[in-house]
Amino acid sequence: MEAVHPAPLLEIEGLTVVFRRERERFFAVEGLDLAVGRGETVGLVGESGCGKTVTALAVMGLLPRPAAGIAAGRIRFDGIELADPRAGYPPGIRGRRAAMVFQEPLTSLNPVLAVGEQIAEVLRFHLGLPAGQARERARALLAEVRLSRPAERLGDYPHRLSGGERQRVMIAIALACSPDLLIADEPTTALDVTVQAQILGLLGELKRRRRLAVLYITHDLGLVSRIAERVAVMYAGQLVEAGPAAAVLKQPLHPYTRALLAALPGPHKRGRRLAAIPGAVPHPGARPEGCAFHPRCPLALASCRRERPPLACAPGGRAVRCPVTAGIPAPEGPRS
Ligand SMILES: Nc1ncnc2c1ncn2[C@@H]1O[C@H](COP(=O)(O)OP(=O)(O)OP(=O)(O)O)[C@@H](O)[C@H]1O
Ligand SMILES: [Mg+2]
Repeated sequence: MEAVHPAPLLEIEGLTVVFRRERERFFAVEGLDLAVGRGETVGLVGESGCGKTVTALAVMGLLPRPAAGIAAGRIRFDGIELADPRAGYPPGIRGRRAAMVFQEPLTSLNPVLAVGEQIAEVLRFHLGLPAGQARERARALLAEVRLSRPAERLGDYPHRLSGGERQRVMIAIALACSPDLLIADEPTTALDVTVQAQILGLLGELKRRRRLAVLYITHDLGLVSRIAERVAVMYAGQLVEAGPAAAVLKQPLHPYTRALLAALPGPHKRGRRLAAIPGAVPHPGARPEGCAFHPRCPLALASCRRERPPLACAPGGRAVRCPVTAGIPAPEGPRS
């Protein structure tokens, strides 16, 4: 009998997000396809402004309105449509079955409410737990995210915690209702490398224990190899490469992914100048004709200036938006 593949938990198809401001109109995300399976971690990678957070906000139904809207595409969560403009965002998903951890915990936490109260509030609101039970569960959640002396910390205000501790509290809040999907948007960028490693370790442990699906957003391709099974690379609002993390990191196909890898520091590159990517990500309102990456691409052909390449399948469950390198692995592998 043929194996039946269950549908992914999160399925994004052709997602296009438009921003409108006075006479300006631009697509922050364009035709994005992305899937996250149950218990799977997918790394969503790209430079600043490429549309990672906008993608996450679309999934959570938190796009800033009326400036932003979903112009096209579908987002299905466990088979439930999240992007139907007529039906609106369905109840019971956000904060309950899908939760998000933001980059800067200080702006997401309420500065005048003790952290225990903030977790208990979520439990009362979503699950209707009585105060005593909510408090006990809040303590258990703080212990689960490995905050030391959890019972005492319930009464602490956010400013008394370190950056890493605040991020643990944010993760505890996100986990409060036992979600199936956690979207972590640059959760460790504000932290030093030691604390970053601890938070990554915690996420890995939680993902295994709770069979949590994680969409991990970062600009750091190196970090992805430590946490994600699959990786999706975005550039200027579009997916340019996707595939198993190990394969993409070992043999990146898209010139942009290759450039990101070459720009990564590493022990074997000590004392050598890192390869910076020349130029900058174009603003969505001023993207060039043809392939959006062509002005920065060392391999661009004349046709790349005119034609927008489609996302093409490559062997090994991979996809790449580049007619020059599609299916041709980098001759040198990841540059070291
Ligand atoms: N509220 C907003 N109003 C207008 N434009 C916005 C708004 N939010 C995002 N954008 C634009 O949408 C594009 C994508 O932004 P997004 O925040 O998704 O980038 P990102 O990939 O998350 O970048 P970063 O790594 O800096 O967080 C950017 O060009 C940004 O200027
Ligand atoms: Mg962002």
